[in-house]
Amino acid sequence: MNNPVNHFENDLLAALSSENKHISPKYFYDANGSALFDQICDLPEYYPTKTELSILSHHSGAMAQHMGPHAELIELGAGALTKVRLLLRQLDSPTSFLPMDISGDHLTAAARDLQREFPQLAVSPIVADYTHDWSLPLPHKATQRRIAFFPGSTIGNFLPTEVDSFFANCAKHLPAGGLLLGVDLLKPPQIIHQAYNDAQGITAAFNSNLLTRANRELNANFDVSQFAHWAFYNAPQHRVEMHLVSLKKQEVVLKNQSFVFEEGETLHTENSYKYSIDKIQDIAEKQGLKSGPVWTDPNRWFGLLWFDIPDFETA
Ligand code: AVI
Repeated sequence: MNNPVNHFENDLLAALSSENKHISPKYFYDANGSALFDQICDLPEYYPTKTELSILSHHSGAMAQHMGPHAELIELGAGALTKVRLLLRQLDSPTSFLPMDISGDHLTAAARDLQREFPQLAVSPIVADYTHDWSLPLPHKATQRRIAFFPGSTIGNFLPTEVDSFFANCAKHLPAGGLLLGVDLLKPPQIIHQAYNDAQGITAAFNSNLLTRANRELNANFDVSQFAHWAFYNAPQHRVEMHLVSLKKQEVVLKNQSFVFEEGETLHTENSYKYSIDKIQDIAEKQGLKSGPVWTDPNRWFGLLWFDIPDFETA
């Protein structure tokens, strides 16, 4: 059956059955996980959200100019819709806004508030898993330009093959449009390390919530106290890895199947890739996108990158 609980069940069964146990980070985001992620964004150690917001507040006027008048704006992975407000306030007569997210409840409430603030704008939330091939409804008006906004460096949580398909999807669904992409950039490893090992333990709680969720939704029997948060920067791969480490040899039962964790064995829950500007532009250009301006902070810790998308029909 094609429902999200079944995806979680199948993916977790596959992860537990394999030698290197690895599950997609998208399963962090139930209501509790989304609330914990909001708390992470406010942590002193977690620089990406603050840095991206400050870049947006300085440069949203220039970004809006690249988007042009009468745009249809699509936000991928739309959460609280805080960042997009900065753009919407600067845009010249945007016609419509399509926030897309996996978590429907969160999205509907945030979209309702935004509609109140921008009564002229047609706001149409789309509940979809944008890590797969996403599609869009017919444009609100045939003449408008479609622009995607993908902030937060969520692209960093994609595997390299998923990054390629993401850009290919943009090329397919946004002809003659554009993409504004938030990317966490390479920086000294200790800054990155602290961001994923905060003093209050919120990131640890976010990580182990995956097990709590599996116990609640799938009737698994993880002993959450016997798995520890482990996050480190894998420098050769340019990525943070988050794992849950088994503190002893133990058995977990899921759907009448039993799985053994050796002491020290891990469930790999997330990668968060960091990029150089050149590298991510190069990957996007291989899928046909055209690199434009890049807005960044004085430390160059985070970048908002503009890409034009050619009209492949007429090119
Ligand atoms: C959503 N994503 C970009 C976050 C990140 O930094 O990779 C998720 C996160 N994981 C731990 N802290 C935050």
